[in-house]
Amino acid sequence: MERASASFTTLLFGVLLLLGTASDSLAMEKCLLCHRKHDLFKTESTGRKVSLFVDEEILGRSAHASRVCTDCHVDIVALPHSKDVKKVNCRRCHYVGNPVGAPEGDLYDQYEHSVHGLEVAKGNSEAPICQDCHGDHNVMPLDSADSKVAKQNVPQTCGKCHMEIYAAYAASTHGHAVSQGNLDAPVCSDCHGEHNIVRHEDPSSSVYGLNLTATCSDCHGPLGVASKYGIKADRAATFEDSFHGVAQEMGSRVVANCASCHGFHDILPEADPKSRINPDNIPKTCGQVGCHPEATATFTSGQIHVDPHSEESGILYYISKGFLILTASVLAGLMLFILLDLTKRARMARRKR
Ligand code: HEC
Ligand code: HEC
Ligand code: HEC
Ligand code: HEC
Ligand code: HEC
Ligand code: HEC
Ligand code: HEC
Ligand code: HEC
Repeated sequence: MERASASFTTLLFGVLLLLGTASDSLAMEKCLLCHRKHDLFKTESTGRKVSLFVDEEILGRSAHASRVCTDCHVDIVALPHSKDVKKVNCRRCHYVGNPVGAPEGDLYDQYEHSVHGLEVAKGNSEAPICQDCHGDHNVMPLDSADSKVAKQNVPQTCGKCHMEIYAAYAASTHGHAVSQGNLDAPVCSDCHGEHNIVRHEDPSSSVYGLNLTATCSDCHGPLGVASKYGIKADRAATFEDSFHGVAQEMGSRVVANCASCHGFHDILPEADPKSRINPDNIPKTCGQVGCHPEATATFTSGQIHVDPHSEESGILYYISKGFLILTASVLAGLMLFILLDLTKRARMARRKR
């Protein structure tokens, strides 16, 4: 008896669940009656025609496949619906502690405190809200190559608004590598962050003068990914050992960081004639306002990333080797002296007895 009632409850529950999804898809179906038509348009006050076609296939592949139209378009409560429909508020579901299973974490708070969130709060209509970066019906799961925030698509997503920067970046060594499918190279968000982007003059910014060395070194340091590409992995260590690095460590903002010599959005390899570190351009790069105005070709022919332990460093290598030999011989001499002295003292002591 008990078992029968249990299975009856299960059955009832199942039917209710089916009814639930049926009425949901009925609601979807009602909307799609009009919105699956390719020729449904609205005309904006400017005279521009905007398509109101909704692609079910895209919605079905999206992260929101299990949502219905009115989960997002909450202000549409009756049909036919009014003409002024409000912008979708993603935060209706995306908040910490939400009951619908939208990802948790501190990303929402971060956005509110980011340069973009603050600009939106100030009323800057040019600054991005969630759907400007993530899309509308095409918010794909993060691991999908179609996601607007998948690593390889980030430059275009940000570049929609930051067009000049996008152009410089796309032509750079990093941009070129990413467009060739090399996801080890950085996109905008690797240097700037995502929801936590702040202005570059903000001391907490990952691209603020004093923090930039660490940001580049994530990849160009000894444990970094750049070593896979035949690029020397000691760039950060050799830079920090140099005068520039030490002065920066002491807090001087005026001294060079990686970007002062390499640029940031337009970084090119040494061999490229347009590169700031191409031997022909070095005098100009080092002679930047306030750096070394007296910079000449000979002054700047010295190497920047110098590892005295490598034979490639020429004279420095031999000087460093020389010092090693000198130190060793001085130490050896000293030991010999002490040894002789001890023997002498021992002999004298024996004679006294
Ligand atoms: C009878 C046809 C019809 C049905 C059914 C219908 N719509 Fe619409 N919808 C329209 C038309 C026509 C417009 C354009 C109105 C205008 O000219 O601004 C529109 C506009 C919209 C807009 C865009 C508003 C804007 O300004 O960008 C949204 C969002 C929308 N509909 C959602 C829905 C949803 C959700 C449903 C189902 C609950 C639905 N519609 C059902 C005809 C329909
Ligand atoms: C995950 C939330 C979400 C779901 C689910 C969703 N939409 Fe939308 N829809 C949006 C967003 C975001 C926009 C962009 C405009 C905005 O920001 O409000 C949009 C725009 C639209 C527009 C206007 C097209 C345009 O380009 O301006 C129509 C029409 C529309 N949706 C209909 C539908 C219909 C019909 C369904 C169900 C089949 C649906 N939406 C499901 C989020 C959603
Ligand atoms: C400036 C562009 C931008 C804006 C604005 C933005 N995001 Fe994101 N969002 C990203 C990027 C980039 C990622 C990271 C993707 C990754 O980690 O690969 C991301 C990741 C996410 C994730 C997945 C995080 C996870 O851990 O699963 C969610 C959810 C998300 N964003 C929601 C939102 C919401 C909600 C808003 C609005 C409050 C918003 N985003 C605003 C760019 C943006
Ligand atoms: C009705 C509630 C609801 C609304 C409104 C909503 N989302 Fe979501 N969103 C979810 C849920 C639930 C998930 C988790 C889906 C899953 O994991 O199956 C999700 C997942 C996501 C993801 C993560 C995908 C991933 O792979 O980790 C992003 C990004 C996202 N939403 C962005 C948005 C944006 C942008 C908007 C506004 C246009 C929005 N959401 C509106 C409920 C919502
Ligand atoms: C290799 C690291 C790196 C990458 C990749 C990168 N940036 Fe930057 N970005 C920087 C640095 C460093 C600065 C600050 C330079 C300064 O102090 O003047 C900066 C400054 C900025 C600024 C503020 C200054 C201005 O000119 O308005 C914006 C906006 C910006 N970047 C957007 C982007 C976008 C969009 C992308 C992707 C297309 C991108 N960045 C890729 C390192 C990077
Ligand atoms: C919808 C347009 C839009 C999109 C998309 C967008 N931004 Fe912005 N961004 C802005 C606006 C507007 C500002 C504020 C500009 C100002 O006031 O100087 C801004 C500011 C910034 C700043 C601070 C500039 C400074 O003074 O240092 C950075 C860095 C930045 N964005 C990077 C990005 C990155 C990285 C992405 C992609 C993940 C992105 N943006 C996507 C519009 C956009
Ligand atoms: C996310 C990892 C990452 C970050 C962050 C990064 N890089 Fe790179 N960088 C790479 C990779 C990978 C390559 C190799 C690309 C290729 O050749 O395919 C590269 C190439 C270079 C090259 C060209 C080397 C050559 O011989 O072709 C220079 C110069 C460079 N990066 C400087 C910088 C500077 C300066 C910064 C900080 C402003 C920086 N990188 C930040 C990963 C990174
Ligand atoms: C004072 C100017 C200066 C500073 C600061 C500087 N570099 Fe360099 N960098 C150069 C010059 C000049 C070269 C080419 C000669 C060489 O390899 O020493 C170079 C070479 C490189 C290369 C190899 C590029 C190629 O095409 O082979 C990488 C990668 C690199 N630097 C990364 C960095 C990183 C990361 C930082 C910050 C930690 C940094 N550099 C700081 C001037 C500088």
